[in-house]
Amino acid sequence: MRPKKALLATATLAVALTAGMTVALAPMASAGTTLKASAAEKGRYFGAAVATGKLSNSQYVGILNSEFNSVTPENEMKWDATERSQGQFSYTGGDRLVSHAQANGMSVRGHALLWHAQQPPWAQGMSGTALRNAAINHVTQVATHFRGKIYAWDVVNEAFADGGSGGRRDSNLQRTGNDWIEAAFRAARAADPGAKLCYNDYNTDGINAKSTGIYNMVRDFKSRGVPIDCVGFQSHLGTTLAGDYQANLQRFADLGVDVQITELDVMTGSNQANIYGSVTRACMAVSRCTGITTWGVRDSDSWRGSDNALLFDGSGNKKAAYTSVLNALNGGSTNPTTPPPGTGVDTTAWYVLVNRNSGKALDVYERSTTDGARIDQWARNDGAWQQWQFVDSGSGYYRLKSRNSGKVLDVANRSTADSAPVVQWSDGNGTNQQFRLADSSGGYLRLINRNSGKAVEVQGSSTADGGNVVQYADWGGTNQQWQLVRVG
Ligand code: G3I
Repeated sequence: MRPKKALLATATLAVALTAGMTVALAPMASAGTTLKASAAEKGRYFGAAVATGKLSNSQYVGILNSEFNSVTPENEMKWDATERSQGQFSYTGGDRLVSHAQANGMSVRGHALLWHAQQPPWAQGMSGTALRNAAINHVTQVATHFRGKIYAWDVVNEAFADGGSGGRRDSNLQRTGNDWIEAAFRAARAADPGAKLCYNDYNTDGINAKSTGIYNMVRDFKSRGVPIDCVGFQSHLGTTLAGDYQANLQRFADLGVDVQITELDVMTGSNQANIYGSVTRACMAVSRCTGITTWGVRDSDSWRGSDNALLFDGSGNKKAAYTSVLNALNGGSTNPTTPPPGTGVDTTAWYVLVNRNSGKALDVYERSTTDGARIDQWARNDGAWQQWQFVDSGSGYYRLKSRNSGKVLDVANRSTADSAPVVQWSDGNGTNQQFRLADSSGGYLRLINRNSGKAVEVQGSSTADGGNVVQYADWGGTNQQWQLVRVG
């Protein structure tokens, strides 16, 4: 753990989808009154680092469940917690947190697969090929155990040096070769293809030598096809905020990765609420900033002790910083690629549904406006015949109404058979016109028909324009997974 002194010196509806769970999504109000509702309205999550041991504290859990829809294990998924002896894995704390998240409609950020700190003693004493192999095995085992349950993993944590070098931090992992980070990302992707894979670090709160070093690594990874989806900005802050905080987030987003504020806490004092507000506004202004996590719930839960760095005081009361964040969330712009797991569907919005396997959009063939017209996939063009609104049928089911025709998705002839065609038909609110949303992690969901229990899929996993859309037994294939991209 780095010294706090160094850190401060550098300070320059919400009902959610969770892996394996299907839930009702309530229509959104216009200005949320909780962090999670306000963030969800803007297509983002609001999370907290959680110490599993505190889940028995009712005040703590009360705040967690009412205000947050994402959790990060503060320590429970780290190497020293999950592999105390080499090859012997224990997931008790992490599993407990995942179940709490699933039971309460929260998504989970996994933290952290590889880090120079908090290594078990046996790994600290290793080097070279033996350490490299052990590290990659660790990534594979842990990511496999939690496969399908993690929204985003901090695959590698804090691998860059502080100061002006812009280079890597020296560590036993770094000494196994500069490619250790990409090896870790590749192993994580293979183990859990549905999780977003993040690089996470601190003192990256503006454009500086360290953040630029990371920026160059991400650019290199993207150019060479190394799987990286996101960058976490820990944002352990002092009494000032870098003026180019937002610009720094944006330059990473422009590389084609999501950005997330992953461990936010701010030194107490007259500027605390302002800084919290500024960080939140910066995230809201960057469309690929998918969410914010504070590193703990109440001041008394924080690793920063007397800094009183969080949004709730030690008695669980909301602080000025809380109001500042809530106002910033409510004033923010809507993320155009909503919703990530942990958020709801906005029944006033229009969405394009993009298939995970083909990258093509759910489409009414030949822009038809008649009953019985077939539904296909086509290259996304955002035409009105590719836009759909979720109309609430109650009990967690929705009709999907075409913006062009006003008709709804319908399983033809109320069929319950595999491969029955999906068509559009006049809205009669029939059960064959109603679908529930099942989360597939990574921001994708399946549409399950109420009458048949089958999933809407692209037949034969076609990737071609015109590929048929049918219903088929729900097996979670990528051709059954759709991303909701908000376009109106
Ligand atoms: O559980 C033991 C307890 O039995 C023992 O009596 C006590 C003695 O101090 O220590 C307890 O373990 C501590 C653990 O936190 C739980 O409280 C560890 O010593 C302590 O090192 C550990 O600190 C954590 C730190 O990471 C190191 O892993 C903090 O809780 C955690 O907030 C902090 O989080 C890190 C992020 O992972 C990465 N970014 C920076 C951030 C803050 O340092």
